Amino acid sequence: MYRFRFHVVSLILVVLCGGCDSKIDRFDPNRLYAMTLERSRSMPMDAALSDTSTAIDDLFGTPDEPRWPVDLLEESVAGLVDSKRLSQAAGPVLSLQDGTQHGLYREHCAVCHGLSGNGNGPASLVQDPYPRDFRHGVFKWKSTERNAPPTRDDLAERIRLGIAGTAMPAYPLLSNKELDCIVDYVIYLSIRGEVERELLAAAVDEMGYEEEPPEEELRLRVPSAEADESLTEGEEVTLEILGDIVGQWAEADEFVLDVPAPPHGKPTASDLAKSIERGRELFHGQIANCVGCHDENGIGQTITLDYDDWSKEYSSRIGLTPSDAEDMKPFRDAGAMMPRRIIPRTLKDGVFHGGGDAETLYRRIVVGIAGTPMPGIDVVETESNRGLTENQVWDLVRYVQSFATQSSEEQR
Ligand code: HEC
Ligand code: HEC
Repeated sequence: MYRFRFHVVSLILVVLCGGCDSKIDRFDPNRLYAMTLERSRSMPMDAALSDTSTAIDDLFGTPDEPRWPVDLLEESVAGLVDSKRLSQAAGPVLSLQDGTQHGLYREHCAVCHGLSGNGNGPASLVQDPYPRDFRHGVFKWKSTERNAPPTRDDLAERIRLGIAGTAMPAYPLLSNKELDCIVDYVIYLSIRGEVERELLAAAVDEMGYEEEPPEEELRLRVPSAEADESLTEGEEVTLEILGDIVGQWAEADEFVLDVPAPPHGKPTASDLAKSIERGRELFHGQIANCVGCHDENGIGQTITLDYDDWSKEYSSRIGLTPSDAEDMKPFRDAGAMMPRRIIPRTLKDGVFHGGGDAETLYRRIVVGIAGTPMPGIDVVETESNRGLTENQVWDLVRYVQSFATQSSEEQR
């Protein structure tokens, strides 16, 4: 099975790369989210999708000529993405005479993540989990609070090392400069996708788009950078959404979760054994209840019938059945993946997708995993049934680490 999949993926890679050097003058609009809103609000979305797409193209340009709307942003956040790096990552694959590689995203990433970052590239079908749809701006393996975007370092590390246990490969051969370009491009695609989603939602929920667009004053538009006359309400809302999302990304570093020092520094063998035992009890206990998903002693997965947030958005959250192919068909035609159940990890395998070092596991347990059912927990001052203390979280970290065999590479 594995060999078969591998061949399918390489075949698709070869076929797709026939198109790596071609010109592409438009990103696909987010028809999937438009359709989701159409269902949940019982409102036709054509007018909203049309205005939103024009605004998004004005702000962010095209796959061959990306734009970073620096003129419309406050100085403090405008430098988040660099236009030069962006154009090196974008466009068709080519090498300049000085050896610089262009089209890095299309060369390395688009086959899985799709040109617009929708996670629906030609190789994505055979993968479980599916490649990330960057347009939600939600990332699993990061050092920041659950609702905050990842830091540049988080993204760079995931790309450099890959995601063990998934199809996402490692990229050890990219130069640091190339990696920087690609990180910019992932941030760009995420912000572009998030702004598009928020504009679509604002169109129906706030601006009064129905079958027809609303009056001129309310239409979602991008003001020209030189415009000195006052802005329309629609222009103001567009700028506000853009500024908010870029602002969150620019502040990501401030949302990195601090990890307190472990209680014993370097624990003796007997301290460690006691900590692991306490961790074992917490794992099976009422408050952390890890066993509810990860099974006794982390040996397997408790059967859960849950899905990740990307799939739930266009299925269970709007009253449809994720496993029902008929229900899902119109959404699949609009670019959705057939929902696959998310399976809690068999922790005994010792394969960590987001890193198995102690600090990372501490954050994972406190923050949970964004976009998935794995919840975070409240860290409390004194032991009680309202959360776990820092030391208790450390006990859980030690217990989880004790599963992994000593030979696991990720174990430190
Ligand atoms: C062969 C398919 C494949 C290729 C090629 C690929 N990825 Fe991925 N990528 C995945 C899969 C699958 C996931 C989802 C893993 C998960 O959910 O844990 C993923 C997840 C990610 C994430 C999300 C990490 C997080 O914290 O949630 C980022 C960022 C990412 N990929 C960037 C890239 C970039 C940049 C490239 C190109 C340099 C690339 N990927 C190439 C399959 C791929
Ligand atoms: C509601 C179900 C649920 C609960 C409760 C839960 N988890 Fe998870 N956990 C998951 C799922 C689902 C994944 C896989 C996520 C993925 O790869 O997308 C996961 C993955 C993990 C991972 C792997 C992280 C990595 O980098 O690969 C660890 C470690 C983990 N859980 C520890 C715990 C601990 C410790 C607890 C208790 C404090 C816990 N989980 C509670 C559902 C749960």
